[in-house]
Amino acid sequence: MGGTAEARDLAGVLAGRADLAVTLSLAGRTLDPAPQPVPVRTGGFGGAFGLAAYLEQEAIDLLIDATHPFARQISANARAASGAAGTPLLRLERLGWEAAEGDRWTRVASMAEAVAALGEAPRRVFLAIGRQEAKAFDAAPQHHYLVRSVDPVDPPLTAPDVQYLLARGPFAVEAEVALLREHRIDIVVSKNSGGEATYGKIVAARILGLPVVLVEREEAQDAHHAGTVEDAVLLADHLVGSSRKRGV
Ligand SMILES: NC(=O)c1ccc[n+]([C@@H]2O[C@H](COP(=O)([O-])OP(=O)(O)OC[C@H]3O[C@@H](n4cnc5c(N)ncnc54)[C@H](OP(=O)(O)O)[C@@H]3O)[C@@H](O)[C@H]2O)c1
Repeated sequence: MGGTAEARDLAGVLAGRADLAVTLSLAGRTLDPAPQPVPVRTGGFGGAFGLAAYLEQEAIDLLIDATHPFARQISANARAASGAAGTPLLRLERLGWEAAEGDRWTRVASMAEAVAALGEAPRRVFLAIGRQEAKAFDAAPQHHYLVRSVDPVDPPLTAPDVQYLLARGPFAVEAEVALLREHRIDIVVSKNSGGEATYGKIVAARILGLPVVLVEREEAQDAHHAGTVEDAVLLADHLVGSSRKRGV
């Protein structure tokens, strides 16, 4: 299960293996998804129950949850379906970013806390959190928002002072610095997604001395956990081997 750069990279590595038949599952959120190196199935399974049924029907030997660190529902479904179907589960989750010298981060646990962290006084906010949770910021309509997402925010925010920018990463640091300057941004809101593709805005905020409200992820609770594609390949070998020995 993908929707991330790691899932695409892992699929690319596993695609060359004659002993594996790999299918990549996408939610179908992005209107124009990037090409993938293996066959793709698209759309929800119908909850954990539907995913368990899929695992059984397709006689899946290993379920790899390589979805985004903030795609919490599908990861919970993966854990439940893995237990119900008896299919081993491997979680590939990239590491979060760590603060460096010069970073001015306020770490929060939710979008609601991020909204509150902006404060009462009007500010010029760069919202780089994707389109699905941007609506939380309607609760603080006094701010100016620059909202960047891959696909349009639909319905748009009800806050009155919002500018939308459609763009797909990766984003280079120099371009991010220029963007923050051009829009006279004075605070950035980001998820702690980790990875390189969206790290540019964090570096740009550091260069410009701007504060960042960083929404942290929930603690992972997976038995088989990999932080990199390389580790996931090793663990996948082990798990597929033991799954097939059990005749699953
Ligand atoms: N959340 C983010 O910040 C973010 C950022 C970048 C990419 N993504 C990617 O975008 C997708 C959707 O994210 P989300 O936050 O909306 O997920 P979510 O809230 O965890 O999942 C909502 C529902 O979407 C379906 N779904 C999600 N990922 C799927 C997949 N890979 N294959 C098939 N069905 C999937 C499932 O529907 P059913 O219950 O019907 O099975 C799931 O219950 C994920 O695949 C994720 O990797 C998310």
